[in-house]
Amino acid sequence: MQKQQLFKPCDLVIYGALGDLSTRKLIISLYRLEKAALIENDTQIIAVDLHDKKLAEFVDIARQSLAKFLNETIEQATWERFSARLSYLQIDLTQAEQYKKLATVVDSNKRVLVNYFSVAPFLFQHICQGLNKSGILTKESCVVMEKPLGHDLKSSQEINDAFAAVFHEEQIFRIDHYLGKETVLNLLALRFANSIFTSNWDHNTIDSIQITVAEEIGIEGRWEYFDQTGQLRDMLQNHLLQILTFIAMEPPVNLEANSIHREKIKVLEALRPITTQNVAEKTVRGQYSSGFLKGESVPGYLEEEEANIDSSTESFVALRVDIDNWRWADVPFYLRTGKRMHSKRTEIVINFKQLPHNIFKDSFQDLPTNKLVIHLQPKEGVEIQMLNKVPGIDGSIKLHKTKLDLSFLKAFKDKPTFGGYERLILEVMRGNPTLFISREEIEQAWTWIDSIQDAWLHQNEAPKPYPAGSWGPVASDALLAHDGRSWEE
Ligand code: BG6
Repeated sequence: MQKQQLFKPCDLVIYGALGDLSTRKLIISLYRLEKAALIENDTQIIAVDLHDKKLAEFVDIARQSLAKFLNETIEQATWERFSARLSYLQIDLTQAEQYKKLATVVDSNKRVLVNYFSVAPFLFQHICQGLNKSGILTKESCVVMEKPLGHDLKSSQEINDAFAAVFHEEQIFRIDHYLGKETVLNLLALRFANSIFTSNWDHNTIDSIQITVAEEIGIEGRWEYFDQTGQLRDMLQNHLLQILTFIAMEPPVNLEANSIHREKIKVLEALRPITTQNVAEKTVRGQYSSGFLKGESVPGYLEEEEANIDSSTESFVALRVDIDNWRWADVPFYLRTGKRMHSKRTEIVINFKQLPHNIFKDSFQDLPTNKLVIHLQPKEGVEIQMLNKVPGIDGSIKLHKTKLDLSFLKAFKDKPTFGGYERLILEVMRGNPTLFISREEIEQAWTWIDSIQDAWLHQNEAPKPYPAGSWGPVASDALLAHDGRSWEE
């Protein structure tokens, strides 16, 4: 992240260019980078897909995507620069000899080859082999891919092996789009640039930590994918564990990729396993039933389009996580995430410990504890809940709970905001792997998640129902109540 070196122009090849990820996110992000003049002049964008299209047809598709998803007026000058970079190749990705077509457009002497895998995982190995045979790869070429990178340790290892057969680890960029979010990155600044936090960030001062990633959306026509995946694998294995590692890791030596990856892996290694022995007391699985969201009635999980009515896949999960290391001994991390919850909210709550003695009993029998609340989305900011004296001269000292509130939107209102994909694509073009996930990290995360998944299988219990529009099943409250705590609402 420190290196802001100028980077070489790229041949950015998007495999699956007509697909959802490409048309909804990648094209929009690349256009926005163009608008901000962050793409090198000689960079080319090569769209690859199975369908036979003329370049003009693809350019039209790109324009329509922008019209639909950009949420701002398309600037003509930017569009002209952007569309001039586009080219289109029809390739059947399962046919190794067809990759030769790429050699007609890429030029490894002038540009770095960036291969963006915006395709279903079954094509990963085909593309790796096709590229390998094509003769266009150099030591600088890289690959970018994102979840699902397997559905358990074994399948993830198979994918990683397929990539490792052709590319070195430094050439592989695994995306977790949460690592592109400004507020997730700000956790590094908050923790390691502010001495009030660096010295108060362990079991001596912190009682417990909560991470909530609540979504309003249901499964949005992704029944097949989601039902085979579930919320634990879809959200917790990646996004919540990434947030957790940023909160829990030791200070890295610097901001280089290796230093940060090393510290994150140590956290993942220290996660106490959840097994058949403790799964009942440490986890809650839920599935939404019909309910109301913002006044609108919405169907339950089993009533969604294409639903299998016998499904016992979880759309909600809450966990108590313990980290077995010196810093976090006896500090529980409570994680919860679900679809069709009350409102979209991603936040971290750091609950500080109770003071040893209370001299303000007139105000509070039990002094409320300090909380640091980090809002990741939709509103971005940091809030500290503390106690202050109520102004007055009646001779008493009455306390009141107040908030120190830093909204990023207000504090940095002149700064342009970029989405996660813009940041991550730019980091790939810079060749900086800091914000990406290493093989060791992802496999360590799967090892821990597989144990939970196995324990659930063994437990063989149906997920607990919760009405759409709520904060999850009652059992999720009970998980914390059991420890004398409650979720921050
Ligand atoms: C994706 C999941 O990784 O993240 C989706 O597959 C989920 O199910 C999405 O809705 C949430 O992302 P965000 O950025 O909206 O919090």
